[in-house]
Parts: sequence; C-alpha cells; structure tokens
Amino acid sequence: MTDGNEAPSRLDTGSKVDPWRLALLLSGTGRTLENLLATIARGELDARVVAVVSSVAGARGLQVADSAGIRGYLVPRRAFESDAAFSTAVYDTLMPHQPHLLLLAGFLRRLVVPPAWEGRILNIHPALLPEAAAYAAGRGRYGVHVHAAVLANGDTRTGATVHIVDNDYDAGPPVLRAEIPVAPHDTPATLAARVFAAERALYPAAIRRYVTAHPELRGDRG
Ligand code: GRF
Repeated sequence: MTDGNEAPSRLDTGSKVDPWRLALLLSGTGRTLENLLATIARGELDARVVAVVSSVAGARGLQVADSAGIRGYLVPRRAFESDAAFSTAVYDTLMPHQPHLLLLAGFLRRLVVPPAWEGRILNIHPALLPEAAAYAAGRGRYGVHVHAAVLANGDTRTGATVHIVDNDYDAGPPVLRAEIPVAPHDTPATLAARVFAAERALYPAAIRRYVTAHPELRGDRG
C-alpha cells in the first residue's frame, strides 16, 4: 500500500526493471565472486552475474562460476601479444552477455579501457587509495604483498578501496572505501583476513552506490 505520493516501485507499476547485469573478471580463488553471489542470493543486491572471465587456467573462480550455473571463460594473457589485444578479447568474450558493469574480482592482469568501457568497470583493491598507492598498489602489488607493504610503511590504518578502472593502474577515482586500524601485532596474513572481511560488505555497497548514481549504464555502449 502507498499513499500515492511515493515513487512507483517495481511492484506497483508492473513494469519490472531487469536486475543489473554484472560480469566478473578474476584470476584466483573466486572469493569475491562467492561473496557477490551470496549477497545477491540474500536479496541485498538487485543484480545477476551473467558471465565470468578468468585469466588463469584452473582458477578456483571458474569452478565457483560453474557450480552457480554461470558461464565461465578462460582468456589467458599469454595468448595475446599486448595488453590491448588481451583486453579486446576479454570485452569480445563478454559482449554477448550484455553486461552493464564489469567487476574486477582478484584480476591480476592489466586491462586497457577503451572509450566504450570508460566508467563501466570497477575494481576492489585491498588498501586505502589514493594515499597508499605509491607503495601498496600497481603491478605486482596484490594479495599479501599489499599488506606487507602497508606494515613496512608503518601505517596505522589500512582498508580497501573500490574504484573506477581507467588506464592508470589502480589509480582510477574511488567509489567507496572501508578503513580498518592496523594493530601492533598484525602480520600480512592477519591484515589480509581483516581487510577481506571488510570487503564483503564494501564491494556490494559500492556497486549499489555506483549503479544508483549511473542509471545510464543500462544503455548501449554505442
Ligand atoms: C581481494 O583482496 C581484492 O581486494 C583483490 O583481490 C582479492 C580477492 O581475490 N582485488 P580472490 O577473490 O580471493 O581471488
């Protein structure tokens, strides 16, 4: 029941808006994919994962996709002579699934972003960007290496950042961040666990925020 002054909901207009169509790119465990699938299953994100690309053969993330009935593809970087050619192959693989948004989810390869995909790709990085970018982001700075760099720098806080992917590695504009304190007894492993725990809520929240702010993403790429 409404008093007639509220914005029409999907139920009372009868014109169902399709869920956001997400495609994930990964290279590893698929924990981020699992987390998004669980979030969607709980009804906390009105989205559907329509396809997954892995840059690594045998990545557990491909098994996660398969178990969920999601089409998974292998696009190995070494099959291409440049980052640009590799990136084109990734986009060409995903296009038939008509994703609105691409999400990097533990993806360890450089993606070149052509104009048609600008503003349509998000990444999550396990450090606070941009301030930790100089030592805890960029090529080769992933996983436990990131947390070791944060500890080596003597940081008293760290966290995770969801950012727009552009052609500067790990340097696109932030969408949302989660901060956590660094404790004196922390090791790279303990930090990794706490940061990933924060990522479980952060990535879905950032996606919700981003798609709400960008309804035009449902349109054609032109
Ligand atoms: C997370 O730490 C995320 O910040 C980074 O990759 C990790 C997740 O990878 N981008 P995975 O899902 O465990 O493979």
